Amino acid sequence: MRRLVAETRLHAADLVLPLFVKEGLTEPAPLASMPGQVQHTEDSLVEAVRAARDAGLGGVMLFGIPAAKDANGSQGDAADGILQRALRASRTVLDEVPAGTATPVLMADTCLDEFTDHGHCGVLTSTGAVDNDATLTRYASMAVAQAKAGADVISPSGMMDGQVATIRDALDDAGFADTSILAYSAKYASAYYGPFREAVDSELTGDRKTYQMDFANAREGLREADLDLAEGADMVMVKPAGSYLDVLRAVADRSDVPVAAYQVSGEYAMIEAAGANGWIDRDRAVMESVTSIKRAGADVILTYWALELADWLR
Ligand code: PBG
Repeated sequence: MRRLVAETRLHAADLVLPLFVKEGLTEPAPLASMPGQVQHTEDSLVEAVRAARDAGLGGVMLFGIPAAKDANGSQGDAADGILQRALRASRTVLDEVPAGTATPVLMADTCLDEFTDHGHCGVLTSTGAVDNDATLTRYASMAVAQAKAGADVISPSGMMDGQVATIRDALDDAGFADTSILAYSAKYASAYYGPFREAVDSELTGDRKTYQMDFANAREGLREADLDLAEGADMVMVKPAGSYLDVLRAVADRSDVPVAAYQVSGEYAMIEAAGANGWIDRDRAVMESVTSIKRAGADVILTYWALELADWLR
């Protein structure tokens, strides 16, 4: 009876698996703060994308970690940069299936923090502040490089003002009118990104509070989503998810495009850690946390448990 009348049901196609690929690795490198997750080699990334495809996931979201970082994040838009190489290899795997078979959507993180030696999401001014407008030029170039490499969805996560409009123009001018934009609209300056910094070898000292949002504010998140919708976002995202279900519900109620939520690295790590200690029932907590994100209004959920959940939902 409970199954029959459940208001919310997860499906593998709702889920997007974030994946990390690091240049120069010879073996996948386990992430201590994200048990069960790794930095992939280029080969093991392809295997993970194949597994996501065969599990019927809705998408994969790729993050690249270059061997060399610099102030401009120049590997971010290099044609042979690690993220572009990984996108091309993923595109091939996703296109292997017979025409007409649904495959995961190929998404790319469009941000500079994985590529800069200072770890900020943008380029800096001479005084060390993030230069919003100079960063937009970099994002436009990255977006086009990612689209050329086969990305279906460009995902600006750096919270620069005007990033969606700039990327839309650049994609259209380069002939990628069909490439979509998933805007990280309401992205909060969050302690829950802690383990991600290990995942991308981030060098950041300091914080992102000048461009990411204050967790005290909900209305501001709605304003950010409205701006991104006006600039042409095809999907909007709230991030992190679990501590921001009120913002997610409010965005879902006013958005006329699909709404995504990102269950981030720290949310994953907390449940894994408590589960490993026997303090909570891990599997039940995983299912409850992800179902709650859908109940709060997410059409699309980015979660590191996507593959495992797809297996349970079979
Ligand atoms: C920025 C980006 C971050 C995450 C996704 N994209 C880090 C940040 O903004 O500090 C965090 C994801 C997670 O914690 O799982 N490129």
